Amino acid sequence: MALTDLIDIELAVPNPGELQEFWNRRGLVTTGDGQLGTPERSSQLRLKESHYRHVSHVRLATESQDDLVATAASLDAMGAQVTLGDGWLESVDPVLGHVVRIEVTATESLKVAPTRELNGPGRLARANRRSEAAMREWTPNPRRVGHVVFGSPDTKASVDYYVNGLGFRVSDTMPDLEATFLRCSSDHHNVFILPSPVACMNHYALELDDFDAIGLRGVEVVQERPDASVYGMGRHIVGSNIFWYLLDPAGGMFEFFTDMDQITDDELWDREQRRDDWDPFTVATYESGTSKMDFFLPSDIDAIAAGRERDGL
Ligand SMILES: [Fe+2]
Repeated sequence: MALTDLIDIELAVPNPGELQEFWNRRGLVTTGDGQLGTPERSSQLRLKESHYRHVSHVRLATESQDDLVATAASLDAMGAQVTLGDGWLESVDPVLGHVVRIEVTATESLKVAPTRELNGPGRLARANRRSEAAMREWTPNPRRVGHVVFGSPDTKASVDYYVNGLGFRVSDTMPDLEATFLRCSSDHHNVFILPSPVACMNHYALELDDFDAIGLRGVEVVQERPDASVYGMGRHIVGSNIFWYLLDPAGGMFEFFTDMDQITDDELWDREQRRDDWDPFTVATYESGTSKMDFFLPSDIDAIAAGRERDGL
């Protein structure tokens, strides 16, 4: 695989300072001017000011300059805008309008999360002690940004750009929804394209260690803003990830996730594996409540449309 990982994303919002403080409270560290990361990966979210909320950059990792040359040729052949440099390539997404930058680099491997002592039927792992999650003696931090999801007014062109231009692989499709899950690493999805009347970010997603980490961090968000929960907790069917979708102070939806399917061998991954009762509009195998409309389309989509128009997109 030429592409190896998602490095980071840049969010452009009217008040980046407020968003930066929000993520500092959630455990991301300010590692540069408008840059948030973790001790392991110094840049995960980059923030900049804009008159409307959108993703302005997506940065990807690849293995070699030869990969960049091949990708530049693919993009050029499809008529996409592309600039090739020494160790980097930049292209403008022809449908969504953000910059995609690919760099010859290797992302830092993540340390394995410490094994939690969990009691269970027939399993006594934590005797005579309360759970650190119950005692709130534990403040788990996000480990990385894992994926970003876009609403596209032309899903066919978007998937063509990501797959045939940039070299993403298709992990799953939901044909009835015109939705496609794409990966540039072993994650089931690093980019997900779904239909939208206006090009927009649907959500960005941060990986946490486990379900307790999501619960603890998600509750903090809801305690600050009671209406911040959009959907969850639950477990998706496609991708299998445990999720909780929430709103950030800029109005952007983000997901805390854990336990996503990992695909290391295309031959072993069965895209046709389905349960007979799967309904294409049922996105969770279990969940704690009905999703708000933000799950499908940002409630400020009119402001996003106006912002794009002002930018000539
Ligand atoms: Fe997600």
